[in-house]
Amino acid sequence: MLTRIPKVLNAEQLQYMRERLAGAREAWVDGRATAGHQGAQVKHNLQIAEGSEVGAELGQGVLAALERQPLFISAALPHRIYPPMFNRYEGQAGMHFGNHVDGSVRLIPGSGEQIRTDLSATLFISSPEDYDGGELIVQDAYGEQRVKLPAGDMVLYPATSLHRVTPVTRGARVASFFWIQSMVRDDGQRALLFDLDMSVVRLTQDAPGHDALVSLTGCYHNLLRMWADV
Ligand code: NI
Repeated sequence: MLTRIPKVLNAEQLQYMRERLAGAREAWVDGRATAGHQGAQVKHNLQIAEGSEVGAELGQGVLAALERQPLFISAALPHRIYPPMFNRYEGQAGMHFGNHVDGSVRLIPGSGEQIRTDLSATLFISSPEDYDGGELIVQDAYGEQRVKLPAGDMVLYPATSLHRVTPVTRGARVASFFWIQSMVRDDGQRALLFDLDMSVVRLTQDAPGHDALVSLTGCYHNLLRMWADV
């Protein structure tokens, strides 16, 4: 399941992040710093160094914005979130990231804790008008999904998916990216819970007070209880 979460960041937050990231020249490093063996061979981009002050500050900003997103909570059912990172693909150098699958288990820097990457997230910071190329291409059961979203929007996709970022040929593509360990590991179970939750939300608006809402909400929680791993 690919899920688009619109308007995670507003115009003011985007402007602030763009300025901070553009000004932090010393914090940008070769993206291969955190890639595994296979990823390093196809990864060609820049990212903010792990442990840098600017990365930590802006990452906190992303996490705070996510807490106010019921759609994110419902779609991801997050148990743990990897501290958000930031990357940049420059058009002049034709930066890109070839086909790969994200590492399955990651150490959260500085914590000694591990996270299982059930979901991958990309939050677009650049406007799509400001660069050419730079599409995120995710292979799922229905073929290739091409993703290039307005600034401030985010996509969630199963971390099990083969994916790539096509070469940027003009401008620069800046994004935040991170992983989520979900309470519900299985993508199909998570998608079913998301559908059920969204249906309950719609019914609550269209038929408020209907008796069936109580039992449907009960079904949701009892399925979540059956599948959740916390
Ligand atoms: Ni990836």
